[in-house]
Amino acid sequence: MNYGQSHAHSIENPEAFWAEQARQVAWYRAPDTTLETLADGTHRWFGDGLLNSSYLALDYQIEQGRGDQTALIYDSPVSYNKVRYSFNELRDEVARLAGLLRQLGVEKGDGVVIYMPMVPQALMAMLACARLGAVHSVVFGGFAANELALRIDDAKPRLLLTASCGLEFDRVIEYKPLVDKALELARHQPQQVLVLQRPQAVAQLQVGRDLDWQDALVGVQPADPVPVASSDPLYIMYTSGTTGRPKGIVRDNGGNAVALIFCMTTVYGLQPGDVWWGISDVGWVVGHSMIVYGPLMAGCTTVLYEGKPIRTPDAGSYWRVIEEHRVNALFCAPTAMRAIRKADPDGELIKSRDLSSIRHLFMAGEKLDSSTHEWLEQLTGKPVLDHWWQTETGWPVTAPCIGLEGHRPGPGSSNRAVPGYDVQILGELGELLGPGEQGSVVIALPLPPGCSQTLWNDHPRYLDAYLHSFPGYFHTGDGGYVDGEGFVYIMGRTDDVINVAGHRLSTGEMEDLVGQHPAVAECAVIGVHDDIKGQVPLGMIVLKDGIEESAVQLQGEMVALVRERIGALACLQRIVVVKRLPKTRSGKILRAVLRKIADGETFTPPSTIDDPAILAEISSALGRSL
Ligand code: COA
Ligand code: AMP
Repeated sequence: MNYGQSHAHSIENPEAFWAEQARQVAWYRAPDTTLETLADGTHRWFGDGLLNSSYLALDYQIEQGRGDQTALIYDSPVSYNKVRYSFNELRDEVARLAGLLRQLGVEKGDGVVIYMPMVPQALMAMLACARLGAVHSVVFGGFAANELALRIDDAKPRLLLTASCGLEFDRVIEYKPLVDKALELARHQPQQVLVLQRPQAVAQLQVGRDLDWQDALVGVQPADPVPVASSDPLYIMYTSGTTGRPKGIVRDNGGNAVALIFCMTTVYGLQPGDVWWGISDVGWVVGHSMIVYGPLMAGCTTVLYEGKPIRTPDAGSYWRVIEEHRVNALFCAPTAMRAIRKADPDGELIKSRDLSSIRHLFMAGEKLDSSTHEWLEQLTGKPVLDHWWQTETGWPVTAPCIGLEGHRPGPGSSNRAVPGYDVQILGELGELLGPGEQGSVVIALPLPPGCSQTLWNDHPRYLDAYLHSFPGYFHTGDGGYVDGEGFVYIMGRTDDVINVAGHRLSTGEMEDLVGQHPAVAECAVIGVHDDIKGQVPLGMIVLKDGIEESAVQLQGEMVALVRERIGALACLQRIVVVKRLPKTRSGKILRAVLRKIADGETFTPPSTIDDPAILAEISSALGRSL
């Protein structure tokens, strides 16, 4: 089908469009109802359908004759390991692990927290939960114990699955002490902790609570997939909002399956048997959609890479993986490519590599700057395609649709709305803006299948955060504009969320922590430009009168506090002491102004500023001229 027709059809008649797509899914009971609008304005897709996501990813693929095809390639330069699993082998591993989870008391609807590095067992754990209809919540390994505890208290898991360690460059990061600390901090306690012992670090097990993963699997009976309702939750993915309390994005089973199967073919142009590499981590939404569920449900081989773009062992590792595993298409965050470019600007490490298998390189997670875009396209000779989405949507909102005729990428933009998404730009008063006019990027309701329709344990917060600001629209939190041809340009977040090396973090949460320091009278944390990571946080503090400690000592304490409470991935390394912070006359800190000064951008001071003289003071504290 043609892009324009397909998109128009999906917006004019979403029910007919998605009922057609739902036929691609092997339901246990096909839905009679496609779309329901609930009283609070949210929607339910395929309400009376019954299915199982693990069955679709594994057993169904085997029934289609793909049992011997490679389902998973685990490539780990940090542990010097490469393992391939066929669909048959992966299904058997997952069924056995699901049997163990069941033996440990996990049933349909129960929560399971997974805090694991990029090892095949992390993916198996997700699929094993899905097999039983249990709700998994994967927590990224870079988060500290306190963040893990917050998620445990919200998800209330019956079981926690972890590994003895993760491997970061040449360092072993022991996970088990972090899990133990998190369980000391958490009010909720899972009944048991299943620990995968890795040879790089052997974890101490607590008798009665902790179980050795491999030992526990001995003699276990495999479990068959359990049918679940389309709207039953498949997983919770916590993501940063504007406060210190993460939002538990809930993904359903049915909408997710329909959307991902549609997306893998329509957006990424993949066919069963293709090799796909989602370069991310199972701790992020990309890991869920583009490492685990999407590629497997589409009958593709998925690559699970435990390593970094550089120094594992060098900036040529991505090119090696593509050549060795004959990767057909990949997804990557621009920050990884910027890191490779810095280490190997002339692409010496790519020259001897055969990249002929690759058809497209998709970029998302943060803004793709034109210089990295051009460099990558020139170096690889392949189309580099920007696309935009977020944890809440679970799959691309705007993208070039390789599987549709008439698609063409728009350079510099994140491309056009994917069928299913009606993307609009609204002004401050909720008025529709025209081509080229910048405002809030919103999606007209109904959101297509797969998008989150609630937050775990907090539906009112979902309505407040996403639906109340602009009635009839989903508020994405991004700012941008659409040009006359429908190409969408994402300019950045309009809230307190920043993207550091493709990781979504809340500056509000960091402000809360820095503000707790007894020496701090006031503070602001903003995201400033970084050549590799896109953005990094920068703290500005006003000290209380009479503080004796040196600024250097205080800064060290605050950096350590954020690292200890949020995790190393927060990357807050710079704290600047200022005399005052610029505010509006009503007392709101002008964070956008601070950001512009820090990035050396020109700007007009807002008329609402209470004392314009502060701007010169701030500029000099940041070493910038106004
Ligand atoms: N477990 C434990 N710690 C982790 C971690 C994990 N899974 N991930 C990151 N960390 C730690 C790092 O070790 C580092 O700790 P340090 O300050 O003690 O050195 C800290 O968190 C910051 O990590 P990061 O921001 O990744 O910086 P880096 O210098 O280690 O690596 C890049 C820089 C660019 C190579 C790396 O950020 C990268 O590969 N980025 C791409 C990320 C990506 O693919 N995102 C896609 C998400 S969709
Ligand atoms: P996450 O929920 O962690 O996937 O982060 C989503 C956020 O990342 C979006 O709201 C955007 O701010 C940003 N983002 C994702 N993709 C892009 C892109 N292609 N261009 C610009 N920003 C992006």
